[in-house]
Amino acid sequence: MTLQIKTLAQYKEAYQNSVENPEAFWAEQAETFTWKKQWDKTLEWDFKTPDIKWFKGGKLNITENCLDRHLETRGDQTAILWEPNNPANDVISYTYKELHAEVCRAANALKSLGIKKGDRVCFYMPMVTELAIGVLACARIGAIHSVVFAGFSASALADRIKDATCNIVICSDYNSRGAKNIPVKKVVDDALAMGCDSVKTVLAHKNTGGEIAWNKDLDVWWHEALYDQPTHCEAEEMDSEDMLFILYTSGSTGKPKGVVHTCGGYMVYTCFSFRNVFQYQDGDVYWCTADIGWITGHSYIVYGPLLAGATTMMFEGIPTYPDAGRFWEVCDKHKVNQFYTAPTAIRALMAKGDEWVEKYDLSTLKVIGSVGEPINEEAWNWYNEKVGKGNAPIVDTWWQTETGGILITPLPGITDTKPCYASYPMPGVQLVLMDADGNEVEGNGVEGLLCVKFPWPSIIRTTYGDHERCRQVYFSSFENMYFTGDGARRDGDGRYRIIGRVDDVINVSGHRMGTAEVENAINEHPNVVESAVVGFPHEIKGQGIYAYVIPNQSVADEQAFIKEIRKVVAKVIGPIAKPDEVQVVPGLPKTRSGKIMRRILRKVASGDVSNLGDVSTLLNPEIVEAIKEGAK
Ligand code: WTA
Repeated sequence: MTLQIKTLAQYKEAYQNSVENPEAFWAEQAETFTWKKQWDKTLEWDFKTPDIKWFKGGKLNITENCLDRHLETRGDQTAILWEPNNPANDVISYTYKELHAEVCRAANALKSLGIKKGDRVCFYMPMVTELAIGVLACARIGAIHSVVFAGFSASALADRIKDATCNIVICSDYNSRGAKNIPVKKVVDDALAMGCDSVKTVLAHKNTGGEIAWNKDLDVWWHEALYDQPTHCEAEEMDSEDMLFILYTSGSTGKPKGVVHTCGGYMVYTCFSFRNVFQYQDGDVYWCTADIGWITGHSYIVYGPLLAGATTMMFEGIPTYPDAGRFWEVCDKHKVNQFYTAPTAIRALMAKGDEWVEKYDLSTLKVIGSVGEPINEEAWNWYNEKVGKGNAPIVDTWWQTETGGILITPLPGITDTKPCYASYPMPGVQLVLMDADGNEVEGNGVEGLLCVKFPWPSIIRTTYGDHERCRQVYFSSFENMYFTGDGARRDGDGRYRIIGRVDDVINVSGHRMGTAEVENAINEHPNVVESAVVGFPHEIKGQGIYAYVIPNQSVADEQAFIKEIRKVVAKVIGPIAKPDEVQVVPGLPKTRSGKIMRRILRKVASGDVSNLGDVSTLLNPEIVEAIKEGAK
């Protein structure tokens, strides 16, 4: 197993080694895995192009490391523990032996459907065990998975299927979430009607068993495809730098991009970070409440924990069903030791009152984690006192889809914790703060743009089908640096505090969203001339979405129009992108070169119209008054 740091002195030593001799440090970690062939060169990199190769020439299959290598030592230990949406339904569990067999069956089923190494496989599924099994089955045969969060709309799904030219979509019939039974396959059918010509098969898993339309030319049942498949499947030999998966994420411009992670480095880093950040010990039950549709689910529900031989829990439901005590009831029921969730969920549950958390025994919790957005001090304190009872350290983990794994975090019981601080870099992570002119901001007690100046094993390799975009977005702002898009503060002791995005990306309930994407969706409404979207502080969601919309003719019924705007966004992207506030405006403040002055829009959206700065240089200063007056 990869190194598990236990003391502050060990952390300092590991960090120093990882900086002074990164290749030796990571080679030592990599040697703890099963390789089909040893790598020739530990690292080759150039951030200019970018061209990054870890464990070059090495051959492996990540599923042999997630599954096969545990069979002898922990074959009968629970690998995946699944908690249903409805607490009255049965818990499902797979031991490592059972999971291995099931992944092999699914892998053989995919092969019999013609899927082979290098093919792209799209998943559009709720949090059922078949999603984890399917993802691993792809990795087993060298197919590249592209999981799309099942809350996205048909049109967003179609965009992603087309961009990756997927040959197959794997879905469920329905998704049972809270009190709802949400159609899933119907969304896939609608997406395919938008011209996803590459798709030859839809593999449907029967989840709730509701009525679905059936297209006999495309559709195959999951259970029929797996029926009779052998429980053995040779693991495909993959190169370290072969693609493992694509995961779409939003940026400040254009359509979401497919972030690509590769086999070797991703494996080494997710296992290493999982073991250290959560201090997982044999016998522990680890629970990450994320959805596998996001990077957190990929790295810290599926790959990291299974690589480390952990018992990882998957939860089908939502934090408030059947009531606001559900998370804590589940922690109590399964004696959870490590719990990992998002600040949005913490704030939402905090707002429901302490009685929900006080009802349950949370004494097994050793580490509690936070991810996806800044955690405010009030939520941090509540989480610490009410959930952790002051003796389960909070790991406020900062990372991104592009980083593959956690880069900044406290190590529980090893480094100190401080509210709102993601704190310290992981070994191998060389952080730098830059100013807008491209100079490094040195010393402590400073702020700047957060960059990383040396590759870590799970760094993004490319954006699918458009390498230049990867270079431009992440590697062109500062020479020889990976730029995160976040601003950060380094305190007097060298701890990092993430301030938030400095680009046009907003973070709504921990979901990353490009303001341009939401604008494009709004502009699809036939009566919209132009729109501008900004984030504003939201008590529960962290950030809410505020849309300024110019209609092309006067709007008779403003409320009805606003409803339509929200509806069109739900249709183009998904309900998670629906604006919280829509303001109908006669125009947008623009500079003389025609750029929207978002600074002003952000201030108005946050309810602060007191000091908007100098607006006299605007093309249309009069519009600012109108916007101020029309603001809610
Ligand atoms: C934000 C999620 C503050 C940040 C794993 C980043 C955070 C974006 C934290 C990536 C944190 C993530 N504190 N902000 N602990 N973790 N973020 O790609 O702005 O969905 O750039 O990855 O979330 O979001 P993504």
